[in-house]
Amino acid sequence: MSRSLIAAVLAIAGASSLAACQGQHSSEPPIVPIRNMHEQPRYDAQEAATYFTDGRAMRPIVEHTVAQEMEIDPILEDGVDENLDYAPTIPDEVVAGFDGMEALLARGQTRFDIYCVPCHGALGDGEGMVPEVSNVATIRPPTFHDDRIRHMPDGQLYATIRNGLRNMPAYGHVVPVRDRWAIVGYVRALQLSQMDGQ
Ligand code: HEC
Repeated sequence: MSRSLIAAVLAIAGASSLAACQGQHSSEPPIVPIRNMHEQPRYDAQEAATYFTDGRAMRPIVEHTVAQEMEIDPILEDGVDENLDYAPTIPDEVVAGFDGMEALLARGQTRFDIYCVPCHGALGDGEGMVPEVSNVATIRPPTFHDDRIRHMPDGQLYATIRNGLRNMPAYGHVVPVRDRWAIVGYVRALQLSQMDGQ
C-alpha cells in the first residue's frame, strides 16, 4: 500500500470518527458526506432576491391574467350577480356538476361535518363544541333555524362561508367553490329537517 493511500484511509477514518452518528444529539450541524438533494438552491417565502428589480423573490400576480383554477363567473365565485344581488338558488351548473342534488347533498354533509359542525353543531342549532368549551359569548353562532336565516337567499349563505361574517371567520380559502355550494345545499336540508311542528 502506498504511503499516500494509507494517509487517505487514515484521514477518512479520522474524519468519520469525529462525525456524530445519526440519531445522536449534537449541537453541531450534521455532517453529510454525500449531500444529494439535502441542499437545493431555492428562495424561501418572503426572501429577498437581487435577480428581480423589485428585490422580491415571490412574484406578484401578473396584471390582467387569471389562474387556471380561478372561477370568473361572479355568481359561482361570489354568490352575487353584477348588481351585487345574492343568487336566489344554487346555480344549476353546480348541481349538474355533482350529477344531481343527491350527490351534492352527500358531499355537502361531509364538508359541513368538517368545517361547520365544530361551531354550529351537527343540527345547525349553534350548539357546537367550540362555543360550548370556550364559553365566549362573541363566538356563539346563531341557529340556522330562525326565520331570517331560513329565508336568506342561497347566495348569501354561500357568501357567509366564502367571506365570513362579523365574528365568523372566512372559509373560502379552505373550501373550494363547488364544495361551498354543496354546504349551502346541506344547510337547506338541515333547515327543512328541523321544520316539523314549528
Ligand atoms: C369558528 C366557529 C365557526 C365556524 C367553524 C363556522 N361558523 Fe358560521 N358563524 C360563527 C359565528 C360566531 C357566527 C355569528 C357571526 C356574527 O353574527 O357575528 C356565525 C354565523 C353564521 C351564519 C349566519 C349569518 C348571518 O347572516 O347571521 C351562517 C349562515 C353560518 N355562520 C354558516 C356557516 C357555515 C356554513 C359554516 C361551515 C362552512 C360555518 N358557518 C362555520 C362561527 C362559526
